[in-house]
Amino acid sequence: MRLLSSSLLLLAGSAAARRQIPAHGCTAVDGSAVANSGKSVGTEVVYNNITLYVSKPDESVRKARTGAAVLYLTDVFGIQLLENRLLADSFARAGYLVVAPDLFNGAPAPSDLNAPGFDTGAFLGLHGPAATDPIIAAAVAYVQATAGGTAQAPVRIGATGYCFGGRYAFRTAAAGRGAVAAFAAHPSLLEDGEILGVKGPASVAAAENDSMMPPARRAAIEALLLNSTQPYQVALYSGTSHGFGVRANVSNPIEKFAKESAYLQAVRWFDNFL
Ligand SMILES: *[C@@H]1O[C@H](CO)[C@@H](O)[C@H](O)[C@H]1NC(C)=O
Ligand SMILES: *[C@@H]1O[C@H](CO)[C@@H](O)[C@H](O)[C@H]1NC(C)=O
Ligand SMILES: *[C@@H]1O[C@H](CO)[C@@H](O)[C@H](O)[C@H]1NC(C)=O
Ligand SMILES: *[C@@H]1O[C@H](CO)[C@@H](O)[C@H](O)[C@H]1NC(C)=O
Repeated sequence: MRLLSSSLLLLAGSAAARRQIPAHGCTAVDGSAVANSGKSVGTEVVYNNITLYVSKPDESVRKARTGAAVLYLTDVFGIQLLENRLLADSFARAGYLVVAPDLFNGAPAPSDLNAPGFDTGAFLGLHGPAATDPIIAAAVAYVQATAGGTAQAPVRIGATGYCFGGRYAFRTAAAGRGAVAAFAAHPSLLEDGEILGVKGPASVAAAENDSMMPPARRAAIEALLLNSTQPYQVALYSGTSHGFGVRANVSNPIEKFAKESAYLQAVRWFDNFL
């Protein structure tokens, strides 16, 4: 798998006090639920001037996840990238309503980040938290409005994020931001305060070869999670590079296995904690 070239884009408590959260006993789907090719099955809707990719579960599997939903936060390639849509669909196959906001207003990064005219720094400057948090807030509001959330009983939202979106999975799981659990695969630009600020169980999938999360940074992230009062999990996948959770080369059995395992890691996290 080709790595992104721009380093900017790639950038991404005591155990006794750790919150005890009971398991819900849902059964996780197996790895074959991950669609790596084919047509996406969701639809786009516009809500509060934000485009959302929405993928709904079949009623038969949805029943086990009533009152829970997944907010899917993409990498810089956006909801326009087929692999993002297919992975969102895979979460729907696990029983969740899935909502993925168009984080880049119809203008995601080009598939070749070295394409002439594309300026990574300018792109990231345009899409910092001040621009991105409100888009995610609109997606959260959509979930609550369409999935029957009330002030007394809000829909329990798990945020799953990849690269660029991984940071926002953490941000959205902070107090009052709408998600109650987070999963992030190879997060970019994730800050210490955002890790300590998370207010729900947080799970991370890390790549072996990731200039955004090299071993020292991974260790620092683990130390911060250890100091948080939330349940956490960090899994390191051998034979992988940054981006594998979405854009793995699925012709390579090791990368395919890692991508599917990271998906199952997220599904089991949400099955247990949502
Ligand atoms: C809707 O969003 C677009 C950008 O996606 C913006 O150009 C436009 O001004 C917005 N319209 C309203 C009514 O906010
Ligand atoms: C790791 O990533 C670098 C680019 O950052 C690439 O040159 C190298 O081939 C990768 N190594 C492996 C084992 O994938
Ligand atoms: C974790 O907490 C201990 C005790 O408060 C502190 O000494 C340490 O620096 C903290 N580590 C991190 C990574 O915040
Ligand atoms: C994907 O993996 C296969 C099998 O390892 C390899 O032959 C192929 O060159 C890889 N494709 C890319 C684009 O790296």
